[in-house]
Amino acid sequence: MTAQPVIAVTGSTGAVGGRVARDLAARGILQRLLVRDASRAPELAGAEVRVAGYSDADAAVAALAGVETLFMVSASESADRVEHHRTFVEAAARAGVRSIVYTSFLAAAPDAVFTLGRDHAATEEIIRASGMSWTFLRDNFYMDMMELFAGDDGVIRGPAGGGRCSLVSRSDVAATAVAVLLDPAAHTDTAYDLTGPEALTLAEVAEKISAVRGHPVRHLDETLDEAYASRAVYGAPPWQVDAWVSTYTAIASGDLARVSGDVEAVTGRPAQSFDEFLGAVA
Ligand SMILES: NC(=O)c1ccc[n+]([C@@H]2O[C@H](COP(=O)([O-])OP(=O)(O)OC[C@H]3O[C@@H](n4cnc5c(N)ncnc54)[C@H](OP(=O)(O)O)[C@@H]3O)[C@@H](O)[C@H]2O)c1
Repeated sequence: MTAQPVIAVTGSTGAVGGRVARDLAARGILQRLLVRDASRAPELAGAEVRVAGYSDADAAVAALAGVETLFMVSASESADRVEHHRTFVEAAARAGVRSIVYTSFLAAAPDAVFTLGRDHAATEEIIRASGMSWTFLRDNFYMDMMELFAGDDGVIRGPAGGGRCSLVSRSDVAATAVAVLLDPAAHTDTAYDLTGPEALTLAEVAEKISAVRGHPVRHLDETLDEAYASRAVYGAPPWQVDAWVSTYTAIASGDLARVSGDVEAVTGRPAQSFDEFLGAVA
């Protein structure tokens, strides 16, 4: 009889899921990759590929047959993301998946200042109600995004004030996910706050980027009105502009300042600092 994978991984065409899939493959773990476009799936030893987006319940049920543990990367931002998540979670439960590991967000709550944190709270509720056991990886903002926050002029614009944010690296999120996937029973019905080892203001983030990259980056604190006005040129729908602006107001609120030891507790090694992260990708 051929061995079948009992772990399924979503998001392997993206950054976090791709790291998780490569790490599992390097350890010789069999896995099933659920992707939306098979031609973009990574080619990995011990990995089989199935096509199933989150909004296609029948494809998801078929793709998850025989799977015990599912790594679910939150879908790309959209107005109806929670409904896609609901369809997929309910399909996983129907397919007989026992444990689900979901990438949520730090301080996820129905009234979270970061508006997308509300989607994550709703998804957590759907997962809790599904009957599957769960592990939530409540990631803070990724260190990897910070340089992208700066415009071509080197300015990170947004109403974050002097608020602090305990940024985490994607690689620490992926390493934590792998540790959980390898032993899901040890992490049953647990939520982890995945943060870096320190909480930084955006002025400090900008200073560190400037020092390592050798070109000036600075944080410009905006008022709320200025923040909406400076983003109006993109013509994005209101929910998306709210998400962009609330990235900064959430930092200002202090909601994202908590420093947790969960990365180290789960992986056995300290979380990367922003200096270490910048040095590693220099
Ligand atoms: N904490 C943060 O700072 C932060 C920042 C950005 C995003 N996020 C969230 O964290 C998630 C993972 O981050 P990442 O950096 O790995 O993002 P990423 O590189 O954009 O990858 C997202 C992955 O999710 C898949 N996906 C998206 N929507 C899907 C859907 N409806 N059904 C099935 N698969 C879907 C994508 O597949 P395709 O290749 O087919 O698109 C891709 O493989 C993101 O999707 C987002 O929800 C967090």
